[in-house]
Amino acid sequence: MSNDRNAPRPAEGRLGILLPGLGAVSTTLIAGVELARRGLAAPIGSMTQMGTIRLGKRSDGRAPAIKDFAPIAKLEDIVFGAWDPIADDAYQSALNAGVLNKWEHIEPIADFLKSIKPMPAAFDNSYVKKLHGTNVKPGTSKRAWAEALREDIRTFKAANQCDRLVMVWCGSTEVFIRPGPTHETLEAFEKALDANDESIAPSMLYAYAALMEGVAYANGAPNLSVDFGAMLELAAKNRVPVAGKDFKTGQTLLKTVLAPMFKARLLGVDGWYSTNILGNRDGEVLDDPESFKTKEESKLGVLEHILQPGVYPELYGNIFHKVRINYYPPRGDEKEGWDNIDIKGWLGYKMQIKVDFLCRDSILAAPIVLDLALFLDLAQRADLHGIQEWLSFYLKSPMHAPEVYPEHDLFIQQTKLKNTLRWLMGEEPITHLGMDYYLEKAEELAAT
Ligand SMILES: NC(=O)c1ccc[n+]([C@@H]2O[C@H](COP(=O)([O-])OP(=O)(O)OC[C@H]3O[C@@H](n4cnc5c(N)ncnc54)[C@H](O)[C@@H]3O)[C@@H](O)[C@H]2O)c1
Repeated sequence: MSNDRNAPRPAEGRLGILLPGLGAVSTTLIAGVELARRGLAAPIGSMTQMGTIRLGKRSDGRAPAIKDFAPIAKLEDIVFGAWDPIADDAYQSALNAGVLNKWEHIEPIADFLKSIKPMPAAFDNSYVKKLHGTNVKPGTSKRAWAEALREDIRTFKAANQCDRLVMVWCGSTEVFIRPGPTHETLEAFEKALDANDESIAPSMLYAYAALMEGVAYANGAPNLSVDFGAMLELAAKNRVPVAGKDFKTGQTLLKTVLAPMFKARLLGVDGWYSTNILGNRDGEVLDDPESFKTKEESKLGVLEHILQPGVYPELYGNIFHKVRINYYPPRGDEKEGWDNIDIKGWLGYKMQIKVDFLCRDSILAAPIVLDLALFLDLAQRADLHGIQEWLSFYLKSPMHAPEVYPEHDLFIQQTKLKNTLRWLMGEEPITHLGMDYYLEKAEELAAT
């Protein structure tokens, strides 16, 4: 099924990547892109930079680099902009984050990092209780903040001579907000905005401003930001692609690989206990129970959807699933995530799996931000708008059409992503059926 759509327009001119939040993830991304541009480090973990895509039959031997196959913006054409309630520039913020080695990866590009200064944020401490910033927009009017963000977007675009923009929320995890009547329609949302309603969190103001300006938006955190009716209405109206939410990096990445394996082999799961220690600012923010609740919801949903207890009650009907995140300053960004999984096999015999992932949160997240930004830009040039479910690969709680359940299995997500690229570029999707290799051979043998 190739498609009769036009191929995506070429990536001409400069692409601005706008980042609400200039913390650990953003600075690791920005520094990484600049180091890669200068040939000083490799963009490992990024599908747009290092991935290949098979085209045609396995025997054809066609597997171009994804960036040569699809018109993806070049790293050289990217410029960065950011907002943060903390006034530190990208250099100081990268040093504070403690992710990158100062002498190897920060000082060599210090001038570049110092040139990225955060714009004053639309920030309200009641949505991120552990933070107290001073680099904030004046007043308390949500409408005025949304308009000021729109103005920032336009000014940034003109000042940096950008052809196109995308925005990826890399700000802190806000408190848990359940979608309510104010989120249902654009009209209700705008009324609530004018009334300074407390159900409108700052991240929603960025999403609103982006969509109003025709800028694609992805949400890297688990809070409610673009995943509700009003925003989808706006995205449809202005024909803007959106994606979210919550970057799939450490423990959940492993979960979405292990759980499909248990289900594929019909091994039962009695319990899954996940705990983490981390000491970065994200960990400190998540130490607040209301922000943790947002994260917890995002992390817990994954198993339910992959294992389908309704379909396999005997295997997964009674799982005890627990997720803990513990703020532990000595560890900084070098998080440790433990999983204890109690599984059962043939005749109900019990087994255990222990995983200890000594990961680096922002090192895993940075390539995701880059890929999301570059693929959203590609989507917009292909006239795709609304939810981009093919980007679920990068997300813990992927947005999806209301009539389907979210797809969490990493390898199904990868197939979906690559097939979408094939489809966009007029190539046949790959089904992995592979019967032609054998049927044709059998025909040949039968004829001899
Ligand atoms: N690193 C990962 O593996 C990972 C995975 C999934 C999700 N995330 C999410 O990504 C986000 C960024 O993570 P991080 O480690 O860089 O955190 P961080 O705390 O280092 O950076 C977040 C930054 O956002 C700023 N901020 C808060 N509210 C803001 C607002 N209203 N406007 C603009 N800026 C605002 C904070 O001041 C801070 O500098 C967090 O929400 C985190 O939960 C990270």
